Amino acid sequence: MEPEPPGKDEAFARPDIRSPGDIRLLVDSFYEKVKPDPVIGYFFHEIARVDWDHHLPVMYDFWETVLLDAGKYSRNAMEPHFRLNAKERLKPEHFERWLALFSRTIDEHFSGPVAEIARTRAESIAGIMRLKMEKAGSGTGAAGSSPAAMEPG
Ligand code: HEM
Repeated sequence: MEPEPPGKDEAFARPDIRSPGDIRLLVDSFYEKVKPDPVIGYFFHEIARVDWDHHLPVMYDFWETVLLDAGKYSRNAMEPHFRLNAKERLKPEHFERWLALFSRTIDEHFSGPVAEIARTRAESIAGIMRLKMEKAGSGTGAAGSSPAAMEPG
């Protein structure tokens, strides 16, 4: 067997997340995994009946703002999840699956400091979201989507 030529790792190294085009690739590839996923896919196509032409650009704005400081997203990202959770409980196993798919997407396309920030931000937002959904879910009826349910603590 021939030894690996030097520099191969560099030649094939994955780039970091640096541009709006990278964000687009991240988001598009992530949702290509989410859509057919047996664990969380149905939240998107059955529970929320997501309009992808609307949702994907929102997600580009969200991740551009989180990772590239683009200032394009200023909504409350928790809000639609409260509505979702009121229809169908978002459970720890769903968040674990979401994070596993997100992390795999990053691994497939990117590596570097911003890619790691993407991973840790997703983990921390998912952690907060999971706790908030749990809390809202333990309330009564519509409490899951009430403004009070969005108060921290
Ligand atoms: C079990 C995990 C999750 C599920 C099933 C889920 C599902 C969804 C669905 C169905 C929507 C579209 C709602 C609609 O248009 O009516 C949505 C929106 C969104 N999700 Fe999630 N999500 C999850 C976790 C997360 C996490 C961890 C993040 C952030 C790191 C996130 C960020 C967002 C954002 C930014 C939006 C757009 C909100 C807006 O319209 O302004 N989601 N999610």
